[in-house]
Amino acid sequence: MNWDMKSLRSRFETVFGASPTGAVRAPGRVNLIGEHTDYNGGFVLPIAIEREVRALFRARDDRTVNMVSGQSPNERAKVDLDLTISPGLPKWANYCKGVIAGLIEEGVALGGADVYFEGNVPLGGGLSSSAALEVATGMAMLSASGMSGSVPGPTLARICQKAENEYAGAPCGIMDQAISAMGKAGHAMLMDCRDGSLKQIPFNKPDLVVLVADTQVKHGIADGGYAARREQCFSAARKMNVSSLRDADEASIELSHGNGLIDDVEFMRARHVVGEVHRTLEACAALQSGDYRQFGRLMYASHYSLRDDYQVSCEELDELVRIASVTKGVYGARMTGGGFGGCAIALVDAELADSIAQALAEGFFGKFGRRCPVFATHATAGAGVLE
Ligand code: GLA
Repeated sequence: MNWDMKSLRSRFETVFGASPTGAVRAPGRVNLIGEHTDYNGGFVLPIAIEREVRALFRARDDRTVNMVSGQSPNERAKVDLDLTISPGLPKWANYCKGVIAGLIEEGVALGGADVYFEGNVPLGGGLSSSAALEVATGMAMLSASGMSGSVPGPTLARICQKAENEYAGAPCGIMDQAISAMGKAGHAMLMDCRDGSLKQIPFNKPDLVVLVADTQVKHGIADGGYAARREQCFSAARKMNVSSLRDADEASIELSHGNGLIDDVEFMRARHVVGEVHRTLEACAALQSGDYRQFGRLMYASHYSLRDDYQVSCEELDELVRIASVTKGVYGARMTGGGFGGCAIALVDAELADSIAQALAEGFFGKFGRRCPVFATHATAGAGVLE
């Protein structure tokens, strides 16, 4: 299907019988490094990718919000702004409903609107299609109500995270919504998830590209494994009497493990988090000094820690990282996002990107007999108004 604005506008017209008055976009993301650290008060370093959700809208005179998604056009959703907004069916609209409810709770005087969504972030593929949908909803509702720009990025991200937690039942951290709302083109975003502070790190060298390889193994973060990891981290922090694992270090977790305060599993989870927080800061320094080899080494170390200590990788992700590690022109590779499936990323020499993408896809097919779509991306801008 065509994905240009003209085609989108005409599909809006077919659905709602009138022209849209505006459009917004919100991107998906990959995380370069800093995995499973956000809900532990640590650092993350994601980029917004060149895959996004677009929302076209038209304000209504009444208090109704009608929402249609091009991905499942027959499942329309409707919200009455004056009634309690509860999750229900269709499922995809729960992300949107949660954001609308959150904006109202924040005191934003939203008006009715017709909204049409379309996206090219693979659904449930670990690239934050849900965060993109949430942020796009927020942007569209604000624009349609004549209040675009009135809710600061950090607040919008928090509202979207809450929507995901409470309306979609996914206990995610803040990373995905934050990068979708506040990413900057040509930059990776270092976020300190303890205090929310951000630093945009230039990531726009023409000789570098990020490859994203999709195992197409689906596993949502409402599925249990993610929540279990969270709990193990929180439990370790409680036992060690720190407010989050961000405040632990190698010595303190070794000691707590040695004297039986935390169990073996909690120790492994904590060792990943403590190590990953360090690796993220080191990776950031490496990026700033243009040391891609060092950055790549840290990516591999992050992957092995997620595989062995955090135990959130899978065979398919491990195989992609293995292939990358023996392919010329690859600086580093790792799983990205929550894990248990989804995507692996590789930081590669732009000149060799095509042949590396081919090596990944062919190697994957050779082992699993299934296709593994691979695409290249640069760091793009966070959410914004289109046209
Ligand atoms: C998912 C969550 C994020 C983060 C990552 C792991 O993407 O939505 O908040 O916890 O997993 O780093």
